[in-house]
Amino acid sequence: REPGGGWGDLTGVRIVISAGGTREPLDAVRYLGNRSSGHQGFALAEAARERGALVTVVAANVSLPLSEGVARVDVETSAELAEAVRGAAAGADVVIMAAAVADFRPAEASASKIKKDGTGSLTLTLVETEDILRSLVEEGTPGRTVVGFAAETGDDAASALEHAQAKARRKGADLLVFNPVGAGRGFGDVPNEVTMLDAGGEVRGTAAGTKLAVAHAVLDAIVAVRA
Ligand code: CTP
Ligand code: CA
Repeated sequence: REPGGGWGDLTGVRIVISAGGTREPLDAVRYLGNRSSGHQGFALAEAARERGALVTVVAANVSLPLSEGVARVDVETSAELAEAVRGAAAGADVVIMAAAVADFRPAEASASKIKKDGTGSLTLTLVETEDILRSLVEEGTPGRTVVGFAAETGDDAASALEHAQAKARRKGADLLVFNPVGAGRGFGDVPNEVTMLDAGGEVRGTAAGTKLAVAHAVLDAIVAVRA
């Protein structure tokens, strides 16, 4: 295959991939969620398996199938995702955090349905969730490659790429896969464009195309950074 390594270049490599989007319960029937479909994470899993990796997917609310031979753990909340990733990451060679993880969750989930109280508004108290990627980077397990994803938009202060480079340096992951979002880009099974950044914010690769093509390019960058 072109470019990068052969189909067997990840043979025996243990890869954990989180995918999808977390849901944080608000009450008996409602949650705070996001629009992540899991397509990019699942494409990574399929691509890694094709290249010989031993793949475990931690799937947060993903309604897509996976090939036989890919291990799958289904979760709902960011806390469940953190626990499942932590468990699977022990003994993994590569951990890829492709899931869209809630940054905040309701401080408490009501056991019953929240009712309108006639005041015309509702104030929720949210608390920060665990930053799983940060925990993995801080563990600093020798030989384990940690990869994050970041969807960024540009603004008056900086371009999307500049924001991503700052985040790459802040996060300290071995690779941060950045994709520009906004105007309908990035979500669902649509073509994608990404730039791979190392912990210093340096560009280590770019790719555009289908989520499967992007997945192979991300894996190429992982192989290169581990070499
Ligand atoms: N991530 C994580 N745990 C969280 C939030 C995010 O592991 N609680 C991971 C995501 O899976 C992703 C990476 O961190 O791989 C970057 O996510 P992003 O939302 O871009 O970063 P944040 O640090 O949450 O920054 P922001 O304030 O821009 O949302
Ligand atoms: Ca976030």
